[in-house]
Amino acid sequence: MTPPTAAVITPARQVRGRLRVPGDKSISHRYAILAALADGASRVAGYSSGADCRSTLGCLAGLGVVVTDGPAGQVTLLGRGIGRLRSPDGPLDAGNSGTAMRLLAGVLAGQTFTSRLVGDESLSGRPMRRVIEPLERMGARIEATDGHPPLVVHGARLHAIAHAPAVPSAQVKSAVLLAALHAEGTTTLAEPAPTRDHTERALAAFGATLDAGAGRIAIGGGQRLTARDVVVPGDFSSAAFWLVAAAALPGSRIEIEEVGLNPTRTALLDVLRRFGAIVRIEITGEDAGEPRGTIVVEGDRTGAVEIAPGEVPALIDELPAIAALAAHGGEVRVRGASELRVKESDRIATLVRGFRALGLDADEQPDGFTVAPGAARAGGGAADACGDHRMAMAFAIAALGATGPSRIEGADSVSISYPGFFEMLDRLVA
Ligand code: S3P
Repeated sequence: MTPPTAAVITPARQVRGRLRVPGDKSISHRYAILAALADGASRVAGYSSGADCRSTLGCLAGLGVVVTDGPAGQVTLLGRGIGRLRSPDGPLDAGNSGTAMRLLAGVLAGQTFTSRLVGDESLSGRPMRRVIEPLERMGARIEATDGHPPLVVHGARLHAIAHAPAVPSAQVKSAVLLAALHAEGTTTLAEPAPTRDHTERALAAFGATLDAGAGRIAIGGGQRLTARDVVVPGDFSSAAFWLVAAAALPGSRIEIEEVGLNPTRTALLDVLRRFGAIVRIEITGEDAGEPRGTIVVEGDRTGAVEIAPGEVPALIDELPAIAALAAHGGEVRVRGASELRVKESDRIATLVRGFRALGLDADEQPDGFTVAPGAARAGGGAADACGDHRMAMAFAIAALGATGPSRIEGADSVSISYPGFFEMLDRLVA
């Protein structure tokens, strides 16, 4: 493993430019998995260049799926069909990716063989009971260490269940939906709050029939999936860092093209309007049920932002970026977000420690945080991303508002979702 590297961020007055961001991470995982389960070859254009989605491809290759890289981020997968994955020769490595591990656990639960899912140190500390419990109720047996990875998944003939997850989680929902494809009968899911619906849209695009609406999803087992070509839109959660930077630095203008505009992902745009930014979106196309288009954000007034608990599920990956607004405007308060503690790092602790190190006022609560600009304008500092890609990017955007240079430790972690982030930052700052 290469040692972590640091990035030095110098203050900026504005960000300006037109750009595209890497392919959506959530959608890439799903297209790869569904293509692997489909009958025939699928070409996935715009596949995420991040390490997380590479981990999924590595696991699928371990299950006998032929994966070929093409030009310009295109990946071709030769699907084996449902029930025809091959027993792997060794452990399947999900790396840093919770999505890879949880979604694949759903697929592996329905196989006729036993497999072992492993991850890096961060992933090995993340809770898996939320997927183990429903998958075992469907008939699989899953060994874990105190609810944590590695997971040994003993696949079985599955039967349908009715599942009502305790926490809103698109990963849990998706694990159950993928297992349900392999199960006898109709599985139903009731969501405690809406979460990203990429799996539902992708299943329909690959030919499955499901009934999704008003927080309840029903899907019958025994269906087959049909291979198809798909285009992954740009990742809204990666775009979020530039949109926040533009909102935070008055006079800025950022235009992001070909970015995913699925409404279950774009709640940040409303937060930026509340902060005082001018936000415009234009839908320019749709593929496999996923709308994409252009977002323009112009920095105008800078304000304060309060995020209520009910808003959290739709903003879960954007909360680190939202916190960076405090470095440029008023206070940012977030509550009802204890899920942040079980992400790639304990994002509440990492965030509060890092923002303090950058010279801001920051307070930690069990389920959230408050970040404020502090009495004096922050002079810069050294913040540790703790190996967490979204924390590294949030600290970088916050550091643009300091009066002196800052250092981000563990900056290399951006390769999980956004290789080239710091090069793009250099291009956009003015
Ligand atoms: C994701 C769902 C969310 C999100 C993660 C990606 C997905 O996690 O935080 O980055 O692709 O389904 P949870 O399902 O744990 O909320």
